[in-house]
Amino acid sequence: MKSVLFVCLGNICRSPMAEGILRHKAEQHGVKIRIDSAGTGKWHVGENPDHRAVKTSKEHGIDISKLVARQISENDFEQFDFIYVADAEVYDGVVDLALNRDHTLKVDYIMNLVHPDLNMPVPDPYLGGMDGFEHVYMLLNKACDEIIAKAINSK
Ligand code: 4NP
Repeated sequence: MKSVLFVCLGNICRSPMAEGILRHKAEQHGVKIRIDSAGTGKWHVGENPDHRAVKTSKEHGIDISKLVARQISENDFEQFDFIYVADAEVYDGVVDLALNRDHTLKVDYIMNLVHPDLNMPVPDPYLGGMDGFEHVYMLLNKACDEIIAKAINSK
């Protein structure tokens, strides 16, 4: 079974939304994938997702309220096949932890699933309003569709 780790800064907005969306799609399509999320920072470790991320996901029929934030560790490079990061700051933070080239090659920008090689960010919605969370949801939704399509095609 393939495994996917989503990573953002705090693990309370973008990456838990991605985790919830992909879990939902995997269930809908009967695709078996191991899915988790983490943050590069430790400020919010142990917290549930931001209430705005919870609300936005709920509006789309996805419950992420019980997820708990954690910080990425070196061990995650052994545990996961794909490590998808939200933006350049997160990319740098994750790659800094990589111990070898195999680890580094597992890391890619989430939005490269939709727009290969452009390294487009999923913008940090933390300091903005609800519309930023909806925008993030739409971006992550498209990216997760690509993960599911890949998983189905490689069966
Ligand atoms: P996330 O959003 O990386 O999408 O979870 C953020 C959450 C918290 C902070 C930054 C980004 N923060 O600085 O506390």
